[in-house]
This record gives sequence, C-alpha cells and structure tokens, in this order.
Amino acid sequence: MTIYLREFKIFPSMGNFRGFKDLLGLRFVDKDFISEILNQAEVFLEVINRPNRKLPTLRGKTVVHMFFEPSTRTLSSFDLAAKRLSADTISVGTRGTSIAKGESLLDTLKNIDAMKVDLYIVRHSASGLPHLLARNTDATVINAGDGTNEHPTQALLDMMTLSQLFGSLDNINILIVGDILHSRVARSNIFGLSKFGAKIFLAGPPTLVPEEYRLLGAEIVRNIDDVLSEVNVIMALRIQKERLEEPYFPSIREYRKFFGITKERLEKLSPETVLMHPGPVNWGIELDYEARDRVRNVILRQVTNGVAVRMAILYLFLVGAQQNG
Ligand code: CP
Repeated sequence: MTIYLREFKIFPSMGNFRGFKDLLGLRFVDKDFISEILNQAEVFLEVINRPNRKLPTLRGKTVVHMFFEPSTRTLSSFDLAAKRLSADTISVGTRGTSIAKGESLLDTLKNIDAMKVDLYIVRHSASGLPHLLARNTDATVINAGDGTNEHPTQALLDMMTLSQLFGSLDNINILIVGDILHSRVARSNIFGLSKFGAKIFLAGPPTLVPEEYRLLGAEIVRNIDDVLSEVNVIMALRIQKERLEEPYFPSIREYRKFFGITKERLEKLSPETVLMHPGPVNWGIELDYEARDRVRNVILRQVTNGVAVRMAILYLFLVGAQQNG
C-alpha cells in the first residue's frame, strides 16, 4: 500500500441533501453540511429516548443494506434508524445472494434498482466501492465503511458526542492512537474535525502513521506520554488484524506498552479526559479494562448517538430527495 491520501471523486448532483446525492465521505463536504446532520441528529436523539420511538416519516421508502464485511454497530444502528422512521429494509450481502454464484456487484445493483429502492448503505473491504455503486444508480448511496478510505457516519456520531460534551468542536484537543494507516474512522474524523478547528494529534507505530497526514493539519507524536496531559479526548483505535498482512510492529505486547491506554496511563490522566473508541474493542490491547470507569468513557454513548445520526442521514437524504423530485 503506497498511496495514503487517495482521491475519490464525489458526485455532487442536482442534489438530495445540500447538493449531494450520496454520502461517501467527509473530505469534500463543508461545515454546514456536517452541522445540519448533527443538529437533526439531536432532534432524533430526543425521539429515541421516548417510550414510543417510531415515526412515520419514511413510510413507503426502501433502504437496502449492502454489507460485505462484518459489522455489529453500523449495520444494527442503520437498521434501527430505518425502522424507527418506518422505512422498509432489505439486506443484500455475499451470503445467500447470487453474488456467491458469481453475479457481479454491478449486476446485483441493477437488479435491486429494478425493484425500485431508494437508498443503499454500503460496507465493503475495497476502498472506493461505494463511489462506484453511486455512479451506477440513481438511488442514494451511504458509505458505511469502505476499506481504508472513509467511515463518515462513524465520524459524524463521534463529532455529535464531542459537541454534546464540549458544547462545540473548536476547543477539542484529540489524540487518535493506533493503526491510523488502515483506519477509515481516523480519516473521516480528521477530515471532519479539522474543518471545525480541532487540534488533532496522531500516534501509533511509525509504520502505521502516515507522515502525509501532516498535510491535513494533524500533528504526529511519537511518544503518547508527551501529550496525554495536553489532550481532552483520547480516541483509541482497534488493531485491525484482518488488514495487517505484514508485521507492522514487533508484538502485541510491545504495541500495548507504547500505545495502549494502560492502567498506568489511566492513573495519570485527568478524570475529565474523554475516552472514545469506535468498537469493537480489543480489551487488554488498545484499552485496559480499567478504562471502563477510570475516565469519562463515552464508548456506549457513541453507539446511542449512532442511531440518531443515522436517522438524521436517512431523513435528510430521503426527504430531501422527495422535495427535489
Ligand atoms: N464502529 C464500527 O464500524 O463498528 P462495526 O464494525 O461493528 O460496524
């Protein structure tokens, strides 16, 4: 892998939401685009905290989950989001579909399109795959994580959580630590948070922290202990064993020693420090178990906000489509 700052063309159109047919990443959207999603998500957060969480808003709309990589949080929260807004949902993955018999993804897309659907939610190990699908359908495509490129809805739920905690995003000093190279979560957060003026530190084994990220305004730190007292947020990333084809660092033990949020490091942190993780967590590697209650652990709050953010995205793209159509 040699190119870290890949360019993926986005496809602005006559537009469903702020001129965009699709949500493929945060790199090329502006602050207003992000702020409108976060504001709408706060409205839906109030809805999902009610005893009756269902709204009729998307009745008659059809949402297709296209997940070709495992997922717990993203798939279930998109599914709940769609159901809470009364959309119909179907799933088209590799298993149990004609993709397993050799049908191409584009043929599958054309066939599902012919059934008249409104929106695809796509997760795939290939960076750029949602962009390819978006070019080949009139329906909206939402990127639910593409390879090592972007995971925009995760970053949006992270930004929602941070703006709830800090009141705005411009006084955030965040350390993102771990496998930055393969992290679509880190990329989307860097693209999103930097638009709001957040100070972003990146750390991890040198082989997993591309120098090119300095071009995006992030600061690379080699020793996390140098910045722990300076940051108000730590986002630990998962060691993605499935994407580590070569040994990028000598051992898990060494990784934990230099880059783990260990019990010893937790003891030195201010109890006000916010701790985030996109999940799934490898407890005992990137985070010690003590992280559950030693600092302001907001990992499950991120998950709750994820449903609200995804409701906002479905609503803004699909209702926008109706208004434009
Ligand atoms: N954060 C995230 O994308 O989790 P899942 O892989 O479980 O969807």
